[in-house]
Amino acid sequence: MHAWLCTSLDGADALQWTELPTPEPAAGELRVAVAAASLNFPDLLIVKGQYQFKPPLPFVPGAEFAGTVEAVGEGVTHLRPGMPVAVIGGTGGFGTHACVKASQVLPLPPGFAMTDGAAFAFTYGTSHHALMDRGQLKAGETVLVLGAAGGVGSAALQIAKAAGARVIAAASSDEKCALCRELGADATLNYSTQDVRETLKALTGGKGPDVVYDPVGGALAEPVFRSIAWRGRYLVIGFAGGGIPALPWNLALLKGASVVGVFWGEFVKREPQAFAAGLGELVRWYGEGKVKPVIDAVMPMAELKAAYARMATRQVRGKLVLQHG
Ligand SMILES: NC(=O)c1ccc[n+]([C@@H]2O[C@H](COP(=O)([O-])OP(=O)(O)OC[C@H]3O[C@@H](n4cnc5c(N)ncnc54)[C@H](OP(=O)(O)O)[C@@H]3O)[C@@H](O)[C@H]2O)c1
Repeated sequence: MHAWLCTSLDGADALQWTELPTPEPAAGELRVAVAAASLNFPDLLIVKGQYQFKPPLPFVPGAEFAGTVEAVGEGVTHLRPGMPVAVIGGTGGFGTHACVKASQVLPLPPGFAMTDGAAFAFTYGTSHHALMDRGQLKAGETVLVLGAAGGVGSAALQIAKAAGARVIAAASSDEKCALCRELGADATLNYSTQDVRETLKALTGGKGPDVVYDPVGGALAEPVFRSIAWRGRYLVIGFAGGGIPALPWNLALLKGASVVGVFWGEFVKREPQAFAAGLGELVRWYGEGKVKPVIDAVMPMAELKAAYARMATRQVRGKLVLQHG
């Protein structure tokens, strides 16, 4: 097998395409021949040692991928060689083969494209857990999605619409806002050119959004939190903008509002049944055409470093998928 190997925490440019021994699945594991993997922002952080999860070196990055079961270890009975699967791995996706625990694998139903499977469980799972579980989103409420043209952002936009919410999609350019309208956003906000507080006031009749989905952080957080509705829920997803915001707590008091943390990886481990139920709903919605990964480009796996560079410079719309062959 071959894989992009991370041998030092010096970022994506230091990854090396390396021949490795093909691993045999241990008990409870299976080996997947990887067909496609997608890039997530945490893949940028993990190769620099800046992510919550720090795998021992050397490791193969790639948290979200899909492929075909090639071999199963002892005790794995519900998955068989030849089955198409999606994997939420944490690592291993940017190679030709990976051994993963059976609990990390979702069998792909017929009609589920491999490239969609490679951009689904992690991305949509995060946004579903955030909005539906942590945010307790209800039909008719207004959701503001920041970074709405990005990976988890575009998934959040679709999920909020599927749940019957009104969506204000916010992004850094008119092109990204136009994509969000194509994806079904009811209104958009370009936070590079428009005043955030005034625009949100105008778009919500002065009430503010009920739920805010924030994978960006930084300087946007405080003006957005100041705009939130009474009993609003501000979902802390991530800090792609770089800065971890600090808020004056009186703002939460004044709005009766909540700051709600979202940590999908830990949710998957701690609450496997709730995770499976959420994923089941997402697979059903995919079948009904309510959600579908927004794939900016399918690139050859050989071009992984170029994909990393596009994500680091905010050029991705939806997801980048890397494919073998
Ligand atoms: N909490 C969890 O469980 C969980 C799970 C998955 C991901 N995450 C987090 O969610 C965030 C987004 O992940 P993703 O995979 O969706 O990434 P992504 O596709 O790159 O989207 C991130 C968005 O953030 C915005 N952004 C603002 N400043 C940026 C900068 N300096 N560099 C890059 N992007 C910037 C960009 O939108 P604009 O250009 O429109 O501003 C971009 O579209 C990350 O922080 C990630 O760690 C959290």
